[in-house]
Parts: sequence; C-alpha cells; structure tokens
Amino acid sequence: MNASDQVIAYAEADFSSGDHSFVERLLELIDHFCSTLPPGSLILDLGCGPGNISERLAACLPLSEVIGIDGASSMISMANQKLFCRRPAITNLNYQLVDLSHYCLDDIQDIKGASVIVSNSFLHHLHAPQTLWASVKQLSAPNALMLHRDLRRPSNELEVDALCDRYVSEAPSVLQRDFRASLKAAFTVDEVSEQLELAGLSQFKVKEIGDRYLEVCGWW
Ligand SMILES: C[S@@+](CC[C@H](N)C(=O)[O-])C[C@H]1O[C@@H](n2cnc3c(N)ncnc32)[C@H](O)[C@@H]1O
Repeated sequence: MNASDQVIAYAEADFSSGDHSFVERLLELIDHFCSTLPPGSLILDLGCGPGNISERLAACLPLSEVIGIDGASSMISMANQKLFCRRPAITNLNYQLVDLSHYCLDDIQDIKGASVIVSNSFLHHLHAPQTLWASVKQLSAPNALMLHRDLRRPSNELEVDALCDRYVSEAPSVLQRDFRASLKAAFTVDEVSEQLELAGLSQFKVKEIGDRYLEVCGWW
C-alpha cells in the first residue's frame, strides 16, 4: 500500500470508532489476562499503516514502548509526520520500515521480546498468511498477549454488496474499491484456525465479531 492516493485516503478517513474499539478490546484483554503491563513492556503493531492505532496504544499505555511496523515507506512517512505533530505529548512510540514477508531477524534485532503483539486489518494484505504467524513467534516474549483483528470473507457476492452498501457507500472511491477487494481477499474463521494450527499456535482463539470482522486473541 504505497500508492499516494491510498496513503492519503487512509490517513484522512475516519476509522476512529473501529480504532477505539480495538484499543478498548486490548485493554480488556490486558485486564483479564494480567491486570496490568509491567513498565517498559514492548508493544508491536504489525502492519501499522499511518499509525492510527499505534498512537492510541502509546497514549493509553504511556509506560510501555510501542513500535509500529509497516512495509510501505509512504505509510511510515505519514505515521512519522503525524507523530511529529503529537510530540512532545507522545514519546513512547517509534516506527520502523520492515517488510515482514522478507525480513530476517538481523534487520529487527532490537525489537524482539514483545509483551504484546497486535495487528488490525493486516492478515489479508499478506501474500502468505503464515508471514503474520511466523512474525508473532519470532518477535514475542514468553507469554506474550496477542490481538489480531481483520475482515472476514463473506460467503457470497450478495453479502459483499450488502456490506459495501452498509459501510462505504459514502466513502472516497479508493476506499470503496479497497473495501470490496479486502472483503474478497479476507479469510474465514475456519481458514484462520487452520493457519494457526499449521503454525503451532492453536491455543489462540478465533471468533467472528459483528457482521464483518474476525478476531484472534490469546497468550503465546
Ligand atoms: C489496511 S492497512 C492497516 C493499517 C493499520 N493497521 C490500521 O488499522 O489503520 C494494512 C497495512 O499493512 C501493510 N503491509 C502489507 N504487507 C506488509 C508486509 N509484508 N510487511 C509489513 N507491512 C505490510 C500495508 O503497507 C498497510 O499499511
């Protein structure tokens, strides 16, 4: 996602209610699993895009270190520009340009051992979904907490049309096009469960959320 129209459309779009609910869900999981994160805990936001969720995480969890990772240089530039405007309010957030499909551990040695790894709307963008699960395994500290949310694929074209009408009929054309393509490229709950089993991560739970999302969460 390096095209300038996409970067601008994503940065300007109002995803705030989805971003807010994602962060609320993570706070709920932290509360449920460990009540609080130790100061200095590392949180990774994989496929962070322009950093909308990374910023919220850094603001809500100021004693943690947040790193947003994305493979598109234009996304990382946009994220850094936004962060520059938020400084000095946010000091616990950094971004790194890493293509997770091609990375080798040497490229990102300083970001191993994450206590929390999240992604939003990332899995279906990968050519090989195992990229996400392999990254999770390599970058996590023992007992790391996971939250990954993505679209889920509707079962037929009529459902795709209905979701597009419901959610993006007023959006810029680039977002309408991407939303339709994303719904069709997304995975089902059963497919993600198979990916997790193949990766040796079957302890993670996958479930449907609302009419268009799925969620993977748990401890690794
Ligand atoms: C739909 S955006 C989601 C952005 C952000 N997570 C959010 O919710 O606002 C998907 C992001 O995944 C990134 N991406 C796709 N493939 C990638 C890869 N192999 N490595 C790293 N980032 C990748 C894209 O550049 C894009 O910014």
